[in-house]
Amino acid sequence: MKCRKCGEKAAVNMRQHKLALCRQHFLEWIPEQTQRFIEKYHMFGRGDRILAAVSGGKDSLSLWDVLLRLGYAVDGLHINLGIDGGLRYSEESQRLAQRFADERGLGLITVNVAEVEGAAIPEAAALTRRGQLKPCSLCGLTKRYIMNRVARDGGYDVLVTGHNLDDEAAVLFGNALSWSAGYLARQGPVLEASSDGLARKAKPFCRIYERETAAYALLRGIEYIYDECPFAEGATSLYYKGILNRMEADRPGLKLSFYLSFLEAKRAGLLASQQAAAEPGLHPCQSCGQPTSAPGQCAYCRTWHRVRERKGEKAPTEQP
Ligand code: AMP
Ligand code: FES
Ligand code: ZN
Ligand code: ZN
Repeated sequence: MKCRKCGEKAAVNMRQHKLALCRQHFLEWIPEQTQRFIEKYHMFGRGDRILAAVSGGKDSLSLWDVLLRLGYAVDGLHINLGIDGGLRYSEESQRLAQRFADERGLGLITVNVAEVEGAAIPEAAALTRRGQLKPCSLCGLTKRYIMNRVARDGGYDVLVTGHNLDDEAAVLFGNALSWSAGYLARQGPVLEASSDGLARKAKPFCRIYERETAAYALLRGIEYIYDECPFAEGATSLYYKGILNRMEADRPGLKLSFYLSFLEAKRAGLLASQQAAAEPGLHPCQSCGQPTSAPGQCAYCRTWHRVRERKGEKAPTEQP
């Protein structure tokens, strides 16, 4: 297989685009594509201050790398969730995110959940109803909350995440299976800021296949955490990804056209009424001031308050 641009030996063959490229041309192609999507979906501009949520995985580190190469001003945010699972998962994730930043002299903000809230995600989840099955729901809530708070407090114009096409197609698949109109209405490359305090969010890799972000990280020599979160096993999103991959193997490009047809249908007005209905009436949380649709306290404050209460109840020193 030869590179379409120079005829040298191809390093990456992308059947989904009927395109094979050598290392050098692939490493140029990814930023070109990303820039095209940033413009097409009006994600952000040159003067904007960008905060990238970096997990230490291939997608978010590659995204940070690509945005820097494109000349954007980007700080990183890493959230240490305190997940061990025998792999030292969080420790290793933070080490790799920090290393990436240090090697390039970049600013990385780190927030350690256990230090801020007094319990790591697995322990906290075990203490609340949100942890009945797995800690993922508490984890998701906590990540979203912290990302929004840091982006807002730091005065960033936009928060970017490394969600790739496989992530977006899997979420879309799940939402379409249940016709969750509200979620479908809000899914897209950009989530606008709201006047009540939700930061603007963008996903510059939403049209880049996971295989492509992995190849990019590998060919750029970016060291990232290979392991999945130990709690991801059996997750519905992985199940959907598996199904979509099987379809993609028979019909290259299926994931992309599934996602693009959805965006096109939305642009044409499908879900327009849901869009309006999906705007939740937000107001400031009584405790922390971040926007919430819940009456009184936001879900984050309510949940973590409960964790602290239960932890206090459990502490042997507090037993009568
Ligand atoms: P995930 O939900 O794990 O698929 O991650 C989706 C995106 O969320 C990643 O590409 C990152 O941009 C962001 N993210 C996930 N985990 C973290 C974390 N611990 N710290 C900062 N950002 C994260
Ligand atoms: Fe949050 Fe796995 S439970 S990353
Ligand atoms: Zn080439
Ligand atoms: Zn709150």
